[in-house]
Amino acid sequence: MLQEPFRNALNTYNTSERQRQGGTKAAIMLSVTFQQAKGGAERMPVCVVVGAQWGDEGKGAMVDMLAQEADIVVRFQGGANAGHTVIYKGQPLALHLIPAGITHEHTVCVIGNGVVVDPKALLEEIEHLRSVGLTITPERLKISDRAHLTLPYHRILDAAREMAGSRLRLGTTRRGVGPTYVDKVDRVGVRVGDLRHPERLREKLQINWEQKRAFFNALPSDERPDFNAVVDEMLRYAELLQPYIEDTVTWLNERVGEGKRILLEGAQGTGLDVDFGTYPFVTSSNTTAGGACTGSGIPPTKITSVLGITKAYTTRVGEGPFPTELHGEEQVRLREKGREYGATTGRPRRCGWFDAVLVRFAVTVNGCTALALTKLDVLSGYPEVKLCVAYRWRGETLTTFPAEVGVLEEVEPVYETLPGWDEPLSNCRSWAQLPKNAQRFVERLQEVVGAPVATVSVGPEREAVLWLPEAPSLW
Ligand code: IMP
Repeated sequence: MLQEPFRNALNTYNTSERQRQGGTKAAIMLSVTFQQAKGGAERMPVCVVVGAQWGDEGKGAMVDMLAQEADIVVRFQGGANAGHTVIYKGQPLALHLIPAGITHEHTVCVIGNGVVVDPKALLEEIEHLRSVGLTITPERLKISDRAHLTLPYHRILDAAREMAGSRLRLGTTRRGVGPTYVDKVDRVGVRVGDLRHPERLREKLQINWEQKRAFFNALPSDERPDFNAVVDEMLRYAELLQPYIEDTVTWLNERVGEGKRILLEGAQGTGLDVDFGTYPFVTSSNTTAGGACTGSGIPPTKITSVLGITKAYTTRVGEGPFPTELHGEEQVRLREKGREYGATTGRPRRCGWFDAVLVRFAVTVNGCTALALTKLDVLSGYPEVKLCVAYRWRGETLTTFPAEVGVLEEVEPVYETLPGWDEPLSNCRSWAQLPKNAQRFVERLQEVVGAPVATVSVGPEREAVLWLPEAPSLW
């Protein structure tokens, strides 16, 4: 690693250059200087990007922007439940399994061991990306041999649970993600590496099938999957995906050793983490920074920075407590202003004011070194804007995020109200151009969540990401 004084000098350079030139250009300049300074021999950093709320914070757009400076982008958890939207050739492009770095031809994209891969969805996504002009080759896309496979009937299991009764319903994306992780932990999963050995694949599928026999038998006969058809389908996928399969753990650690710049891209958000989120209304993986290590094989000692992504307000899809949720007209207004509809399912998102209790918790469990605040432009036009700084619960004031959903369902948000601004922000291209009240909102927000805001987004384009004057260095 660089010596501390040298690193500080570069950080100072980084900040002043960003101020002078603005945004990405300065960051590229920094990369050049960084490379020169280390004479090509020092180790380059690894940056983790995680959601600090309940997903849909705009991680895709941030990864897309940061990938301009990265050599490798790795997805480390989740599956086809994710929907990361990037702008490619002026059009929105929704990605579900493939990392958001794919639109930059110089990056290698990796689907890490912590991801659950639906081969059908992945092949469709590859086809779609090719149809819009992107190059997808085994040199550019690598899939971990340790990643688990979502099998054709995992979606049936997911839907069956959702329809089994309101007490079991979680509002999942029904992409079979939960049941795939269940099989992984139950040690009956089928892994991507198994696709390399067709003779053994059948046996692995047989074990997985046996474990669900009672469930299959309970289904009406016309809805029961056919085992031989499943084997044939998986053998077809095996042939098509074979060239992309890699021991990505070894491959990635070799690249870390060579000093490549690596971005670790999380899906969903901290509030949906299976350990730290609003259990049971969570997804089935670790969406937080620890998951970046276990889901990629890159050890914690190699992580340089953790960037938490958060909207300037809060949204959530699916069931589960949401203390700052707005209702009626107020909710509709925010949803329409922010165009808050799911990228994967099209479901309308629940909307509310910024919840600093949740984001403070996210800063803590992820160890966020910086935050990227997205969609600040959506708050233009409100006479007052609000930050929830604590919860009130049965006469007590809670400043930390409670573990029990029963408590979260009963809390009342304690708001700090700040003056709003009327001006639209979407044409602002630097921090200095933002109205004073918008700046004040951001400054207060970083105080109450306890982490510095590095960037503020005022639109979906890369140029709409504005760096703050004192932004910490990510690389
Ligand atoms: P699952 O991940 O499909 O099992 O769904 C579990 C919960 O996570 C549900 O509340 C989903 O709405 C939520 N969820 C899963 N993926 C995303 C995402 O990409 N954005 C936001 N919410 C998600």
